[in-house]
Amino acid sequence: MKPPMNRENRDQGTLQPRTSSFSQGCDDVQLSDSEFRLFTDYLRSRCGLNFDEDTRYLVEKRLARRIQEVESGSFASYFYQLRNGSNAEEEFWAIVDILTTNETYFFRERSQLAALVEEIIPEMLSRQRAGRRPIAIWSAGCSSGEEPFSIVMSGLEAGLVPGRDFRVYASDISRAVLSRARRGIYREASFRETSETLRQRYFAQKEGLTRISDSVKRHVDFVHMNLLDESKLSLLGTMDVILCRNVIIYFDLETKKRVMKTFHAKLQPGAYLLLGHSESLINVTADFELKHLRNDLVYRRPVPGEEREDAWHSLARIGISEAERSGSR
Ligand SMILES: C[S@@+](CC[C@H](N)C(=O)[O-])C[C@H]1O[C@@H](n2cnc3c(N)ncnc32)[C@H](O)[C@@H]1O
Repeated sequence: MKPPMNRENRDQGTLQPRTSSFSQGCDDVQLSDSEFRLFTDYLRSRCGLNFDEDTRYLVEKRLARRIQEVESGSFASYFYQLRNGSNAEEEFWAIVDILTTNETYFFRERSQLAALVEEIIPEMLSRQRAGRRPIAIWSAGCSSGEEPFSIVMSGLEAGLVPGRDFRVYASDISRAVLSRARRGIYREASFRETSETLRQRYFAQKEGLTRISDSVKRHVDFVHMNLLDESKLSLLGTMDVILCRNVIIYFDLETKKRVMKTFHAKLQPGAYLLLGHSESLINVTADFELKHLRNDLVYRRPVPGEEREDAWHSLARIGISEAERSGSR
């Protein structure tokens, strides 16, 4: 059980080595207020992740476990190692792996995937004037791959041809989840929204493991990318659709604004941005318009000269959709 926080035991704003030692186990070592601030400020500035008081216990436990693994003596010495050590960069990626929330599953927020394959991709293909090129889709914050693979499966189910009609690029900041995505082996929890038919069609069962079929897997390119890393982002071309679902909820307002600026620059006018159902751009940016499609509400970079959907009506529609959704539960 979590011991009660004993603030008297904590330092008062300076980093002092602890009397409690990690060598005796990590259950009784506590992050001081100033240490908590140092770690969380650093993480926020490098990757946007925002940890508040409610997550403090989790941060403390996970960091403590890492400190034991690397045999660093205290939170303070570990922080020094993280900032200035010879393997600081490696260590940064290691704590990103342990502190990110990677919850995901196949066919999450299904109505949005339906909007993508039944409305957005066909509309964008039909808008192409000279020649035909695949619609470029970026799953930003793809976790262990369930989202980009669901895009490919949904596309196939809708009669689209991956490679010809669309291409899927997927990225995440956590190297651990990307290596799971590349392996393509999944546990039961990933299938909570997958029908038996689709499971039979796109997965193979071998030696107790459920593996995504190669006909889906080969259509997704995974890349390690921090959404705040301007230099790496500049290597990415423009996109037709960006899905960034259940990622920005972990960011503070400033980071949300920064990431939306990046997405705006990566999308041509008329291109789409799909956020998670619990995420919105209200108070973040007015650079995107809400578009009410048959299957779902999505964001789009406005086309100059085209009339924008009226914001008041869009909000009213959100209310109606939410009421309908909760009514059908
Ligand atoms: C909750 S998962 C969402 C996965 C998937 N998009 C979905 O909706 O099911 C959030 C993912 O965002 C990633 N993430 C968090 N901060 C990031 C950043 N700065 N750059 C890239 N990915 C990030 C995390 O590693 C995690 O895998």
